[in-house]
Amino acid sequence: MTLHIGDIAPNFSIPTSKGDITFHDWAGKSWVFFFSHPADFTPVCTTEMGRTAQLAAEFSKRNVKPLGLSTDGVEDHLKWIKDVDDTQNTHLEFPIVADKDLSVAKTYEMIHPGESETAAVRSVFIIDPDKKIRLTLTYPMNVGRNFDEILRVIDALQLADAKGVATPADWRPGEKVIIPPTVTNEEASQKFPQGFEEIRPYLRFVEV
Ligand code: BEZ
Repeated sequence: MTLHIGDIAPNFSIPTSKGDITFHDWAGKSWVFFFSHPADFTPVCTTEMGRTAQLAAEFSKRNVKPLGLSTDGVEDHLKWIKDVDDTQNTHLEFPIVADKDLSVAKTYEMIHPGESETAAVRSVFIIDPDKKIRLTLTYPMNVGRNFDEILRVIDALQLADAKGVATPADWRPGEKVIIPPTVTNEEASQKFPQGFEEIRPYLRFVEV
């Protein structure tokens, strides 16, 4: 099963480091940053888990719940979380799914046999409060993710939803955004009374 942007994120019930969860119930009305990693007690994963824990306030202020996953069990997760806290100077509070039978990893296509038959690659799913998949990213096992980019795309998605805009290359919060081509100039004038800049009929910027 291939998952696409716009699909409903498949539901599942599974043990985690914070007890059993049913994904959709656990997510509730929040956004979710669902991310897989190859294995507990490995160096790159340790830094990523630590970074996610350190960014707890940033995720929370965006109404985003992080959810990790590896194909190790709950006991390993709990031991490893202590290491993450110690070595990354943090306190990891979010759940990590214990997907020992690979059922979730297979459903979400986190197993890439060219990398490993049993361990997940570094997948990212950003899922909105309607449980819709809004963004996917896939990193190989030996490259840690960029968490500035994770927060940036969440900001871009949330702004796009709130204001009906799109964001240009390398956009950062506070910068000008793009009026989508589906919006006519007349509609844009009503929607953005502050005015907008038309560089080409299809390339219009606005400050929001
Ligand atoms: C790591 O997390 O350090 C790692 C895991 C699997 C392969 C390479 C690196």
